[in-house]
Parts: sequence; C-alpha cells; structure tokens
Amino acid sequence: MNDDNTFRRCLAKFATGVTVMTCSDEDGAPCGMTANSFSSVSLEPPLVLWNIAKVSNSLEAYMDAAHFAINVLAADQQELATHFAMSDHTLFDDVEHTLSADGAPVLADTVAVYTVAVFECRTHEIHDCGDHYIIIGEVTDFRSEDLEPLLFFDGGYRGILG
Ligand SMILES: Cc1cc2nc3c(=O)[nH]c(=O)nc-3n(C[C@H](O)[C@H](O)[C@H](O)COP(=O)(O)O)c2cc1C
Repeated sequence: MNDDNTFRRCLAKFATGVTVMTCSDEDGAPCGMTANSFSSVSLEPPLVLWNIAKVSNSLEAYMDAAHFAINVLAADQQELATHFAMSDHTLFDDVEHTLSADGAPVLADTVAVYTVAVFECRTHEIHDCGDHYIIIGEVTDFRSEDLEPLLFFDGGYRGILG
C-alpha cells in the first residue's frame, strides 16, 4: 500500500474549481474557508456537498450554521483563495461582502468582488466520515456570472489555459 503522501499526490491529480465556504457563527460573525471538495449531488431536490476537516478551527461554526453560502472563485481571485485558507477568525475584516437573506456572508454583489457563482444553502444533512464531515446543503438560491474560473490542480492554482 502506498503511503499518505502518495495518496495525497494522486488525489491532487483531480482538477477542481475553488470555492470559499461562508457562514455566520453563533455570535453573527462571518466565517470563510477555502474549499475544493464541492460537488453537486441532486437536481431534485437541489443538493450539493462539501467536506470539512474535523480539525478545522471553524468546524463548530459550520456544524451549527443553519445556512451557508458557496462562493465559486474567478480566475483573478487567487488572493482570496490564499486569504481564506489561513487559520484566522478575523479573515472578513478586510473583505467586502454582503449578507444573504438567511444571514450567510456572500463574496459577491459588492463593488470589488465578482465571483463565478454563488449557491446559498440551507444545511440539509451532515455525515460523519473518517477525518472529515460531509456537509450537504439544499440550494435555496443561486446565480452565476460569465467569468473564467480559478482552478486547483496538482497542489497549485491554475487558470483554464494553464
Ligand atoms: C485549494 C484549497 C482547498 C481546500 N479545500 C478544503 C476542503 O474542502 N475542506 C477543508 O476542510 N479544508 C480545505 N482546505 C483547507 C482550509 O482552507 C484551511 O485548512 C483552513 O481554512 C485553515 O483554517 P482552520 O484550521 O481554522 O480551519 C483547502 C485549502 C486549499 C488551499
């Protein structure tokens, strides 16, 4: 059997988009974390999922949040991806955002931030799975822009053309 690093390197060969998952914690403070485990699940009802590491400092906020948003980053938003991959609870201090009708922070519809897509979700189910939890959201609202996406492949950020 290969070791953990070989497994990680093999998984990294699957190219993905890059999202920032956002929610409000129990005090109403905005939380955001970069995630590429997003996947669509069901059209009817509209369900999507992502995975959160059990060791994440933001775990409690996402486990308790009744609503969250999935912000799909554009090719020119690598800085936001790096920013929201840091472990820090003041990450939103310098990032423009609005609040969805359900109170989840959204990185769009502001002067400076244009994401490729936003999915606003109601937390539908959470499954305990190995060293992660799978969070399934029912999409309550969504929108998209005709922009190039940011990609993640082989441990690095990429554009569609390389
Ligand atoms: C491209 C990329 C994708 C990531 N995807 C995930 C993910 O799907 N789930 C997750 O729990 N962490 C993921 N991470 C790591 C988190 O962004 C990062 O560990 C976290 O924000 C650090 O803060 P925390 O320890 O306070 O949670 C990803 C990081 C990067 C750079």
